[in-house]
Amino acid sequence: MPGVSNAALPPQWHDLVAESREARSHAYAPYSKFSVGAAVLTQAGNIFSGCNVENASYGLTICAERSAACAAIAAGQQDIVAVCISLTGTPVPCGTCRQFLYEFNPAMTVLIDDLNKAEDAEPEAVLLSELLPRGFRLEG
Ligand code: THU
Repeated sequence: MPGVSNAALPPQWHDLVAESREARSHAYAPYSKFSVGAAVLTQAGNIFSGCNVENASYGLTICAERSAACAAIAAGQQDIVAVCISLTGTPVPCGTCRQFLYEFNPAMTVLIDDLNKAEDAEPEAVLLSELLPRGFRLEG
């Protein structure tokens, strides 16, 4: 969706993209052969990365975005302000990951690092709330 978002790239976007691409190189995707890397930026300024991890039972596959978010949570950093996803193609995050990320900040910025584009191209930036309007939250 180029040109439809008000989302801005965070100042640390270069580092976020680099970490996301590095994580992609560790993807475990023997079944789909589709490698995905992700990195989340927390309010504290730290970056945590993840990759997709597939499984012979297919349905147990964990996407890169959830893998990265879990790394941040496990480090005690729940305030995710941005997530970068590195892959070829742009229709991400998947629906499951949109809802998973929504839990931690519906207003986070999503950077889509499409590796089909020039290596130094700026990633597309959109708001998670645009990708998942009216996501589910437990509220009284
Ligand atoms: N995948 C991700 O890691 N993130 C997404 O947002 C979409 C899909 C992974 C899951 C699976 O390992 C592979 O890409 C093909 O679907």
